[in-house]
Amino acid sequence: MNKNTLLAVVGISVIGLIVIAAISLKPNQLTTNEVVTQAPVPAKAVIVDPYQWTQQQKELLATLSLKSLPPLPPDPSNAAADNPAAAQFGHKLFFDKRFSSNGEVSCSTCHKPELIFTDGLARAKGVGVTPRKAMTLVGVAYSKWFFWDGRKDSMWSQALGPTESAVEHGGNRTQYAHIIDNDADYHAAYETLFGKFPDLSDAKRFPASAGPVSDPAASAGWKAMSEEDQDTINRIFSNMGKSIAAYERLLMPRPTRFDAYIDATLAGNLDEMKKQLTEAEAQGLQLFVGSAHCINCHNGPLLTNHSFHNTGVAPATDLPPDFGRREGVMTVMDDPFNCTGKYSDAGEDQCQHVRFARKEGLELLSAFKVPTLRNVAQTAPYMHSGQIATLTDVLNHYNVAALAVRGHSEASPLNLSPVDLQNLEAFLRTLSGPLATAPEFLAPPADLVQTESVKK
Ligand code: HEC
Ligand code: HEC
Repeated sequence: MNKNTLLAVVGISVIGLIVIAAISLKPNQLTTNEVVTQAPVPAKAVIVDPYQWTQQQKELLATLSLKSLPPLPPDPSNAAADNPAAAQFGHKLFFDKRFSSNGEVSCSTCHKPELIFTDGLARAKGVGVTPRKAMTLVGVAYSKWFFWDGRKDSMWSQALGPTESAVEHGGNRTQYAHIIDNDADYHAAYETLFGKFPDLSDAKRFPASAGPVSDPAASAGWKAMSEEDQDTINRIFSNMGKSIAAYERLLMPRPTRFDAYIDATLAGNLDEMKKQLTEAEAQGLQLFVGSAHCINCHNGPLLTNHSFHNTGVAPATDLPPDFGRREGVMTVMDDPFNCTGKYSDAGEDQCQHVRFARKEGLELLSAFKVPTLRNVAQTAPYMHSGQIATLTDVLNHYNVAALAVRGHSEASPLNLSPVDLQNLEAFLRTLSGPLATAPEFLAPPADLVQTESVKK
């Protein structure tokens, strides 16, 4: 063995020893070293492959697709709910400004089709200013409770509320009954749907202006009416609500890029997934269904569980205390137009949601209805009194999750990084798109009769 060969053998042995030593190092020693060399970074962005989903996650995603939206369940309390003629009549009532105290307010004043049936204001404005933010009406027919506090249990009964609110339409129910009576088109539409229109020609029995409202003259007029005549008016009034509800049942979202991404994910089509959502948007979706826990409340194809939760949104300081669902559930029980009342078409056993509604518990205190996130980028400002101006600020609210001023907040701090928050917002913006509703129902009816004060 010469000197060169000896050197080569020693060299190979040394390399071999190093290799053996490296292989025999336990994997956890390697990871420990890595962790030690990295300083802990607070609020580190959660980076995952945004196009990679486990089988379990795929099943979860499928539940969020509009393809999972079941057919609209019937509303047993409203016999006209799915009658197309009622929807057409309701469409007119929805846009008709004569149903107000000043001839200037209709439902569409605060629920504008071009703003996904909201109004762009923190607090809705009718004849006066309301304490709450106007809610979207898209997909609302899938709810069982209406308003931020759920103080109505059907859509037709909900529709009656704003018409008599002093700050919304500001009118009253005999006024509205007379408008329908005196408009030949409405009169005919009403009779086709609900049978003979009652004779309201006796002005002493049926004053021009009467109803259980805050206006003293109208209120006195209502109290002076016989119970039977009040009942006659109440029936016309509730049929008006039932027609408007039939129209609102047509307001539905259409699938967006988000739904197409889910389709592509379920089909295992990576190219298509990348075409539908950018990396940032898909990262946002990962957070939404994952560590940000949004899906706990914003779930199902409309991204709402249709229920009530307290998420610690700071109340507006210039408004009286808002107890949310705790008060709403009590109001609905006393409502003569609720599902169990005489103006409802439901049978005894068809109002389970009212009979078995939870009426007590700390979780009801300042709990508000979980809004749909479909088209959410188009419905700013946000929350029950429009307290939060932008989606960025909504996400900051969840990230910090301050304690509730009233009741107990279910939200806990997320500690997400600025990039995470941007990704979440990017994802929320993928939920917007045109509605599924036929275009003629997204504008005032062409043949709507308008008064002079409305035309200008
Ligand atoms: C002055 C503005 C205004 C007018 C006019 C108005 N609304 Fe609203 N609407 C609101 C506000 C504000 C809320 C939330 C109120 C609350 O929670 O107390 C709301 C809530 C609703 C909801 C509940 C949605 C949900 O998810 O629970 C429906 C449905 C609705 N309005 C339909 C109508 C109909 C139908 C009319 C006409 C008869 C109408 N609104 C007139 C402002 C208005
Ligand atoms: C514990 C239930 C719950 C969780 C979890 C939750 N939300 Fe909400 N979300 C609500 C409720 C309730 C409201 C309305 C609160 C209010 O008005 O006071 C709301 C309102 C919103 C709004 C405003 C919508 C509008 O029309 O005003 C957005 C946007 C939103 N949430 C997004 C998210 C995101 C994103 C997450 C995850 C980071 C999330 N939410 C987690 C219950 C929840």
